[in-house]
Order: sequence, then structure tokens, then C-alpha cells
Amino acid sequence: MKVKGDIRPPGDKSITHRALILGALAHGKTSIREPLKSNDIFRTVEALKRLGIDVDANNDDIWEVHGGGQFEEPNDVIDAGNSGTTARLITGILSSIDGVSIITGDNSLKRRPMARLIEPLTFMGASFMARKERFLPLAIKGKRLRGISYRTKVASAQVKSAILLAGLTAEGITEVIEPAKSRDHTEKMLAYLGASLSIDGNSVRIKGGQKLVGREIVVPSDPSSAAFPAVWAAATYGSELIIRDMCINPTRTGYVEVLKRMGADIKLTNIRYSSGEGIGDMIVRGGSLRSTVMKDGEIPRIIDEIPILAVVTAFAEGESVIRNAGELRLKETDRIAAMAEGLKSLGADVDILEDGMVIKGRARFHSGSIRTFGDHRIAMAFYILGKIADIEIELDDMDCVNVSYPGFFNAMENIGG
Ligand code: S3P
Repeated sequence: MKVKGDIRPPGDKSITHRALILGALAHGKTSIREPLKSNDIFRTVEALKRLGIDVDANNDDIWEVHGGGQFEEPNDVIDAGNSGTTARLITGILSSIDGVSIITGDNSLKRRPMARLIEPLTFMGASFMARKERFLPLAIKGKRLRGISYRTKVASAQVKSAILLAGLTAEGITEVIEPAKSRDHTEKMLAYLGASLSIDGNSVRIKGGQKLVGREIVVPSDPSSAAFPAVWAAATYGSELIIRDMCINPTRTGYVEVLKRMGADIKLTNIRYSSGEGIGDMIVRGGSLRSTVMKDGEIPRIIDEIPILAVVTAFAEGESVIRNAGELRLKETDRIAAMAEGLKSLGADVDILEDGMVIKGRARFHSGSIRTFGDHRIAMAFYILGKIADIEIELDDMDCVNVSYPGFFNAMENIGG
């Protein structure tokens, strides 16, 4: 089934989390325009309220945070739900609060790695107790931190951001060096709110004790959410879709390059800048696609889009390979296993690798039921597969899309046909 029309996906999830958290650190009022209103985001709102921050998230289009970096010791457990960004960024804040905090999450989040965060924050001076020494729930004893220079083992924006947030209040200079560049919204927003940072390749340095000042933050639409309708349009003849106000930060648009490499007709227009981030409209036209290889330093720039990119490769001519993507096994679910199981069950030829998969196109799909494992991106990827292949897909969990894209199914129905 082809796609026609015009869509503005909801606000960017990474930017909305950061607008709330950096707004809490900044002095004065931060207004957040067009925030994402999703389950994950409400976890960050609740966490900040529990730390005594005044957040007004009742209005539809504009939220307000009255910050100043004065956090209270929480009087109860903080529950990050399904949200890794909430758990990791807020832990960076908790590490500097004088007192004891406990943070937990749902069953999916409780199996995701926290040692990558506990190690640097311990070096900075915080103390941790963790289940099996590496999983939520975490108990954190915060204190006045000291700056460190830390080389992360994996490229993770959540880990980098937690260290930088801790570094903002620490004594001296904090440096994070990554093996490959992860999304850089924290750095951009820190600078937008008045901090000075020095960035050199994959390393970021920040001096502690800098004061942030609240401002208006306009949240662009989320390129990761846009990837679902974009792939649908790119893979169906006769489709033409305009995706509006999308964040075009290069650390997020790796999937656009992948699709172009596969032969997709995609153009970015109306490019402008707002609140330190690039924004544009993306025009996608349908056509014939060929296979590709996704690996190495490209992976962190497409990490959230790999489920939908795995779908699109099944419609492309030839054999596609995804490698060096072991981090996918540590997301909301093991996304390598979940995608391979679903694709195979619908008729695709897929080989599973330890750190990726090999997908042979073009698959001849048949209708079927999909286990989503409660993962929003698995659910949306298979829904789009159903639209491209014109087959019936039954998802075992449709509500999980509310983690990042409330209204997804209606929005897709509106552009289909
Ligand atoms: C995010 C970083 C990425 C990404 C996640 C959002 C962020 O995770 O997968 O959906 O907002 O910082 P990692 O930091 O684990 O790579």
C-alpha cells in the first residue's frame, strides 16, 4: 500500500528528556515548545518532581520548568518505567545530590546494563549499591563530585550525558572520550543554555560549576519516529511523503544516508536552526531499493532505526548485512533476536549473527502474528512491514508504541492509501 501526504511526527524524545533535565539545572524558567508527550517522557517529569523541581507539564503545547539546580533528596523510590534515558540521565543528577536516592524501572529496564554508568560515577565520588552489582534497582549516595577523564567502552549518549551532567556540578574538569560519536543533544543544549564545552572529535570536556540559564527550547519532530513512515514511503512505488520539522542533527540521520545508499529518493528542504539544533522537512518518494551493509562507526548513528532498517532491507534486491550492532541486544528488548524471529516467521530469509544479522531480499511475506516483547520500535517496524507488503500483521502489544509515538496507528492510517 502506498503513502501520500504530509506528516509531523511527535517531538523528539531525546531532546524532550534533555529539555526537562537541563531546564531543572538552569536558573530561571525554561519553556519547552511542542514536547513529546509520551510514557517515557512522563517518567522524567515525575522523577524531577520527586527531586523538588517545579515542572508544569499540563499544557498541551508548551511546558515550563523552573530550575536552578537545587535538588532535594527524594522521599521515595524513582521509577523510570521503560525509559533508559530517564534512568541513566537522572542517575547522573542523583550522584551529586547530598543524600540517598533509589531508582528502579520496569522488567525490561531492570535487565539493561548500568555498570557502564556506575563505574565513571563512582570514580567521580558517588557510591552505589546495585542488584547483582550492575542492574536496577540502584541505591545512590550522592556527594560533591570531582571531575574525571573517562574513556567509555561503548558509544552511548545516555552514559556520556550522565557523566557530563555530573561533571557540570563537579569540581574541576570532566572529560568523556567515546569510541565513536553518539548523539550530541546534551552538548548542544548545554551550550544553548550558556555552558562552555570543548569538543574534539569523539571527546567532550566540561568545566564544573558553570551556571545554565533557562530559555525557550523548541522541540523538533523526532527523526527516529519519522523513520517508520519514511521507510514505508521509500519502499512503495508511487508514494510521496513530506515529513515536517524534523531534527536533522547528523548524529541522528544516519538512516537517511543508509536509505539513500539503497537507492531511495529522499530530499531535505527548508533547513533552519532552532534552540541549537538543525531542523528540516524531508521529502521521500517511493522506488526500487538495493541491499547495503551497515557497520562500524555508522551503528551509533542508526541504533534506534535498525529495526525498521532491517525491515526495509528485506524488500531490497540482494543480501544486506548489519554488523557491530551488539548494543541492540541491550535495548528495550534484544532487538536482534526479536527482529530475526519476526522477519523469519513472516517468510524472510535471515541469518542471526552475534552482533547483527544478514537479510536476503526480496522476501515474499505472508500474513502472521508478531511477538513485540513490549518494545515500541519492534511493534512499529512490523506494522510498517505489513503496510509495505500489503499483508495482515497481528501485534501482541499495540500499547507499547506510547513509549515514543502516541497516536502512531492513527497517524499511519491517515497517510496510507
Ligand atoms: C538515547 C541514546 C541511545 C538511544 C536511546 C536514546 C538518548 O541509547 O538508543 O533510544 O536519548 O541519549 P544509548 O545511550 O544506550 O546508546
